[in-house]
Amino acid sequence: MELLTYPNPCLSHPARPVEQVDDHVRALATEMEEMMVAHDGVGLAAPQVGLDMRMVVIDRYAFEGEEGQSKPKVVLINPEIIEASDEMQVGEEGCLSFPGVFIKIKRHKRVRVRALNKDGEVFEIEGEDLAARALQHEIDHLDGVVMVDHASHLVRSLALKRLQRNLAALAEEKKSKEKSKK
Ligand code: NI
Repeated sequence: MELLTYPNPCLSHPARPVEQVDDHVRALATEMEEMMVAHDGVGLAAPQVGLDMRMVVIDRYAFEGEEGQSKPKVVLINPEIIEASDEMQVGEEGCLSFPGVFIKIKRHKRVRVRALNKDGEVFEIEGEDLAARALQHEIDHLDGVVMVDHASHLVRSLALKRLQRNLAALAEEKKSKEKSKK
């Protein structure tokens, strides 16, 4: 499993629903949780690791703060937003596919989501503020939508320039690490 960065084409097309929640799907969910933790993310969607499936993982931190960090991650399979507040909220957002890029985006302040859990059972979860933002951001990924798609033309182009710089710096860092290993 590899973390993909924008503009990898996997990030820009809608993902397919999961037909059956089996051991294979559970194993992928676990791998995604580990990947998210390793990269210090709050959420991760399957297309970000090249999987064409509607599955996301979100850290409990988004829902409960520090206390939630030690709790099991929230795994949502085939998630759907079933309620969204009229009230909107502007907040800063980042994405593991856009390392080091943060932009302000307007989202619903509260959402309610219906999904399947790792056992294939239907459940509903409600999120407010950061949790609502994470739910909307991750579910967007399943529709091939990334955070810059919500930004103005200007903010988008600045964000993409910054992304290019950051990716170049990361590639340089990796190269020099490999050299020092030799
Ligand atoms: Ni993201």
